[in-house]
Amino acid sequence: MRAPATPILTKSAPEPPAPRAERPVAIPTWARPAPGTTTGRGQLVLSGISKSFGGTSARALRDVSITCAPGEFVVVVGPSGCGKSTLLNVAAGMITPDSGTVTLDGQTADGPGPDRAMVFQDHGLFPWLTAAQNIEFGLKMAGVPRSEREGRVEDALRLVHLVPKRDKLIHELSGGMKQRVSIARALVMNPAVLLMDEPFAALDAQTRTLLHEQLQELWCQTHKTILFVTHSVGEAVRLADRIIVLHAHPGRIRREVQVSLPHPRNFDSSDINQLVKLVRKEIEDEVNRVNAEMAETYWKPQSPADLGADSGLMGDGI
Ligand SMILES: Nc1ncnc2c1ncn2[C@@H]1O[C@H](COP(=O)(O)OP(=O)(O)O)[C@@H](O)[C@H]1O
Ligand SMILES: [Mg+2]
Repeated sequence: MRAPATPILTKSAPEPPAPRAERPVAIPTWARPAPGTTTGRGQLVLSGISKSFGGTSARALRDVSITCAPGEFVVVVGPSGCGKSTLLNVAAGMITPDSGTVTLDGQTADGPGPDRAMVFQDHGLFPWLTAAQNIEFGLKMAGVPRSEREGRVEDALRLVHLVPKRDKLIHELSGGMKQRVSIARALVMNPAVLLMDEPFAALDAQTRTLLHEQLQELWCQTHKTILFVTHSVGEAVRLADRIIVLHAHPGRIRREVQVSLPHPRNFDSSDINQLVKLVRKEIEDEVNRVNAEMAETYWKPQSPADLGADSGLMGDGI
């Protein structure tokens, strides 16, 4: 039984933004919300999604329903194997669910489309193309004329602060830069929704922090709806308007938490830090419980004494 969304304390006065290495850039016209609105399109509704791989015994998701309001930043957090990627792939139209529906702004979205762009942990960029060419690729495929493509690619490079790297091949970029190219490649299509599958999981802590700041900045400017999955509680608290905790085998919603802290979140502020600790504790307890249950069922570390009995086998033949 799913617990209702828990509201967490709200802080009314926004904190001054944290100092950043690079300043935000003006959002280009094509990426702005419709005039007179801060948001507009981007209501993503996943309704009663269930999915099995190879029979009901391998059920990845069971009856998962999530509604993302236009411009909302929703983070799904859960242990490895709980169905996070499957859920995002269903939202992207790349996996057909056994039951349930996906709609975007009231329209059925049962296949891939440029209105939902995906950013992966493994950036998936073409190594034989430059940063700019990778960003341009989707526009080319969509038949956008060259004159318009050039301007949009430059804008997208500016949004992720990578103009000087436009002609670099992918292997010439750092891990963080690759992810920024992949975010720019998604943004340049001006999707209504960004779907992000653990995009920063493989990065070092410092780069991850910088990208958290940049993503918050981009989100504050573009008001895109973002559905982001991670196994990191800290990342979820840092980014989310709302956190959804998934339970595994089969993946189902265990808990929702509303995080009404101002964006961008300044983690140097002691007030915010205190609130973040509260939220973090709530989620961590839940995630720890889920992890403990899974360990109970599937795997339990052996005691040193047990390991000792077999330790002669370890390393044999290496
Ligand atoms: N294509 C597939 N074929 C068979 N099983 C799959 C496939 N994709 C995912 N699964 C299984 O579904 C469950 C959820 O996987 P996944 O969505 O990748 O989890 P997560 O992203 O949370 O780690 C796992 O048990 C995984 O082994
Ligand atoms: Mg995954």
